[in-house]
Amino acid sequence: MKLKSPSSSTTIIFIFSISITIHLSSSESLLINSTCKAMAADSPNIKYGFCATSLQAAPASSCASTRGLATIAIRALRYNVTDTRCFIKQLLRRRGWEPYAKQCLGDCFDLYSDAIPTVRQAMKYYNERRFDDANVQLSSVMDAATTCEDGFADGDGVVSPLTKRNADAFQIGAMALSVVGMIRTGSG
Ligand SMILES: *[C@@H]1O[C@H](CO)[C@@H](O)[C@H](O)[C@H]1NC(C)=O
Ligand SMILES: *[C@@H]1O[C@H](CO)[C@@H](O)[C@H](O)[C@H]1NC(C)=O
Repeated sequence: MKLKSPSSSTTIIFIFSISITIHLSSSESLLINSTCKAMAADSPNIKYGFCATSLQAAPASSCASTRGLATIAIRALRYNVTDTRCFIKQLLRRRGWEPYAKQCLGDCFDLYSDAIPTVRQAMKYYNERRFDDANVQLSSVMDAATTCEDGFADGDGVVSPLTKRNADAFQIGAMALSVVGMIRTGSG
């Protein structure tokens, strides 16, 4: 029984150091906060809370520079569209879709399938400091999310199962666009 005490004190130290880490990472995100504030002021498509939450959630973001935050935003966009493509694939396997809804889902699947290599290309251009080319790619991913959602809206009484995901992809795309813009103009 005595043997247990070292391991439990190790556990306590471990938990203690985790809580210090959590505390530091939430207070050290001054750059995330100020960048998100600037982005929200710059673009009506970006909400401060969404921006701060999604950047803070990314690994190593609390120590990132503005250039790092651009990489993080583009990467977050890639994760988002990749996940949504997979989600649509699962939805398409279900039976009982109205033909119109099924057609919309199929269109969205194609749009999101194309969006994945487009985000990769955006990252490549960004790394090559070809900022205008990166922006064209990022805008086209935002357009894909809008086009997907609009398809459902055009159908009579068809409810989009992708509204939140499309809005998220659109907003992260806007964030990536905005932070790349800051770097391009040297204001970041
Ligand atoms: C950044 O904003 C979050 C809320 O979004 C807040 O909890 C945190 O204290 C802020 N950090 C700094 C350094 O201002
Ligand atoms: C997309 O990103 C947002 C913001 O980080 C996040 O809240 C949401 O869960 C992500 N969605 C998917 C499907 O990855």
